[in-house]
Amino acid sequence: MARPLNIGMIGYGFMGRAHSNAYSKVNHFFDLQYQPVLKAVCARDESKAKVFAATWGYESVETDWRKLVARKDVDAIDICTPNNMHREIALAAAQAGKMILCEKPLAMNSQEGAEMAAAVEKAGIANMVWYNYRRVPAVTLAKNLIDDGRLGRIFHYRAVFLQDWTIPSASPQGGTGLWRLDVAAAGSGVTGDLLAHCIDTAIWLNGGIDRVTAMTETFVKERKHNLTGKVEPVGIDDACAFLARFKNGALATFESTRYARGHKALYTFEINGEKASIQWDLHDLHRLSYFDHHDESTLRGWRSIHVTDGDHPYMGKWWVPGLQIGYEHSFVHQVADFLEGLASNKPAGPTFRDALETQKVCDAVLESGRTSQWVAVE
Ligand SMILES: NC(=O)c1ccc[n+]([C@@H]2O[C@H](COP(=O)([O-])OP(=O)(O)OC[C@H]3O[C@@H](n4cnc5c(N)ncnc54)[C@H](O)[C@@H]3O)[C@@H](O)[C@H]2O)c1
Repeated sequence: MARPLNIGMIGYGFMGRAHSNAYSKVNHFFDLQYQPVLKAVCARDESKAKVFAATWGYESVETDWRKLVARKDVDAIDICTPNNMHREIALAAAQAGKMILCEKPLAMNSQEGAEMAAAVEKAGIANMVWYNYRRVPAVTLAKNLIDDGRLGRIFHYRAVFLQDWTIPSASPQGGTGLWRLDVAAAGSGVTGDLLAHCIDTAIWLNGGIDRVTAMTETFVKERKHNLTGKVEPVGIDDACAFLARFKNGALATFESTRYARGHKALYTFEINGEKASIQWDLHDLHRLSYFDHHDESTLRGWRSIHVTDGDHPYMGKWWVPGLQIGYEHSFVHQVADFLEGLASNKPAGPTFRDALETQKVCDAVLESGRTSQWVAVE
């Protein structure tokens, strides 16, 4: 019998649903020593929270996150709230000795992130940040290929994350769903929201980033604020492109915008090494493109690996070879790894400390966007 791990989740939006789905499914597919129990969900609107609890199977509801954190029957706090709440909740949860699973980006900036990492380490509690793209099987396969030395020395890393949903200037900022456009709630725009994913994956695959130079732009300068009803300045970066040098000498380009008409969530990366190259595309997330220079010259070319075989990462736990899985499974894998980390006492990454590295790169990118200078990552 798996040991229960009582989850208290704060926030029931997009990520609240993605995480609840993962907690519910994980023990059906993975053989684990722990089993998440949906103990309580916390949100400010009690009636909506009750509907959510009934839909997803939570045993109870809280409307004040401090009460949830204080509950003796909760083992782990899952932070699914806007970015400006991560720090306060995490510090209180660490103080209360709860494990913490925190949505990304870890914090509003690296100063907050450092405080949070120190707090969970001082409390000695398990902690993880939901940079879920690491657990897409094709991305994990890319990691394995790089770690096996198949690419050799890496020269280039190229990542983009493109969307188009903020083009209408009449769209307001602030409040449910639109907190991402409000710098007071989000901390930054595409840098912390989208590029943070690209940076986390990049550091995981190719090691630390040494320095960056960025350009950022806010195309729509004012928007009505949903909470104040007034037209207010927009403080986020709508678009950001930056160059980076990795510590291993590789050169990188990163670009993100919410103004790329026609793109909803085009996250792609390409890595060029001495011996081979790889490409991945979120819109086709079950495939990894691979070019191996050592192939026979007349047959050499990009191959598109359908990452669904039983010996591909995580895939042996799902259906039969040839049948693919999707976005939500990356969260199931992350929960599985977290629970395995608890059982084996080998914490699954990214921990708060790992996610702080991404936060530091984001800070350097935003500073460079302001100053137009190269900025060293602290
Ligand atoms: N890993 C990913 O791919 C991914 C994707 C989307 C969002 N995120 C991150 O997840 C977090 C939440 O984003 P989302 O898209 O789910 O946002 P959302 O707007 O859909 O949901 C946010 C939730 O927080 C709740 N909330 C706000 N203030 C609260 C309070 N005081 N007490 C209790 N609940 C409160 C809101 O009611 C809402 O349910 C953010 O940090 C975001 O960056 C990560």
